[in-house]
Amino acid sequence: MMDNIISQDFDKIKSTVKPEAFAGKKVLVTGGAGFIGSWLCDVLLGFGSEVTVVDDLSTGRMKNIDHLMGTSKFKLIKSDVCRFKTEDKFEVILHMAGHASPDEYQQHPIETLQTSALGTENMAELARKNDALLLFASTSEVYGDAEIVPTPESYWGKVNPIGPRSCYDEGKRFAEALLMAYGKQYGLNVRVPRIFNSYGPRLREDGLYGRAMSRFILQAQTNQPITIYGDGKQTRSFCYITDTVTGLMLLVQSREAKGEVVNVGNSQEKTILELATKIKELTKFKSSVTFHPLPKDDPKRRCPDTNKLEKLVGWKPNVSFEWGLNRTVEWFSQKKPSTVTA
Ligand SMILES: NC(=O)c1ccc[n+]([C@@H]2O[C@H](COP(=O)([O-])OP(=O)(O)OC[C@H]3O[C@@H](n4cnc5c(N)ncnc54)[C@H](O)[C@@H]3O)[C@@H](O)[C@H]2O)c1
Repeated sequence: MMDNIISQDFDKIKSTVKPEAFAGKKVLVTGGAGFIGSWLCDVLLGFGSEVTVVDDLSTGRMKNIDHLMGTSKFKLIKSDVCRFKTEDKFEVILHMAGHASPDEYQQHPIETLQTSALGTENMAELARKNDALLLFASTSEVYGDAEIVPTPESYWGKVNPIGPRSCYDEGKRFAEALLMAYGKQYGLNVRVPRIFNSYGPRLREDGLYGRAMSRFILQAQTNQPITIYGDGKQTRSFCYITDTVTGLMLLVQSREAKGEVVNVGNSQEKTILELATKIKELTKFKSSVTFHPLPKDDPKRRCPDTNKLEKLVGWKPNVSFEWGLNRTVEWFSQKKPSTVTA
């Protein structure tokens, strides 16, 4: 069964997204066992779509989709998206598969590049064969260590092409270029959200670097030191999962979004130190804070300019940082956390 916190939060999505745009549609979700993908599956099934997930479970978790197994309109295919072949027909493909956390992609740089390059080509071919709409989960990391903040889509980015993050950043940049080419050469119906840090229930909490929000919550709840990389003055902008999912779904249902690359994120910028302090306050634990060397190429500031998303589909964030963080802490408390592991 889906847990209460998540099912209550669906109302936030339902109030903005039109279910009719998804009812009865055959939708393929790659990476559907992951954080964002599993939320999409829940919402799509709630809207009456038929959902097939392709996931190799490399970073995804069965517990995110266990409650959907055995339901009539849901199917899981355990496969690498790079090699997945099917004769089934889909009207919408949400290509979410990827290695999203720095810990994870730096340990698996080749698979990370392949998933973005070969996996995206495979999904573009499937979409072409099916005449399907393809949405690809890109990232704020295509901007690298951005010099313009808040960052608009028109900014080209400052990315180290051979640094420790390049497998992720350049992989996503290649995928964006590939999909623009499919749009131009074959008229493929693509939409490319550049997702900024999203958080909420089901965000993975393991890993020593990356996914700061869930890591800090877990560290605080288990009375371990909160590990900050650098001086904590670097910023991120945290978008609650229901706002992210709403943004993605509005992009799918909008005709005007065809061929567009659009930032999806919250533009309330916070320092990592502010985040740690807030989490300590909320969890009421007395964890200390420890500082560690800043990893190479870690972006100093990250904050989206969301004007394009607002104008294109009328999206506005619904959830404040305080509310979303409270909700996330509550969810993690109910999950009886264990310790942080690499
Ligand atoms: N969460 C964020 O804040 C964020 C920010 C920017 C971009 N994104 C992008 O959104 C997508 C989803 O991110 P998430 O946070 O849900 O991550 P996640 O790790 O929770 O989910 C990714 C899913 O993709 C699957 N996967 C990875 N490689 C695969 C492959 N080759 N074949 C099949 N399945 C594969 C994993 O098993 C996992 O279930 C990713 O593409 C990520 O790059 C996420």
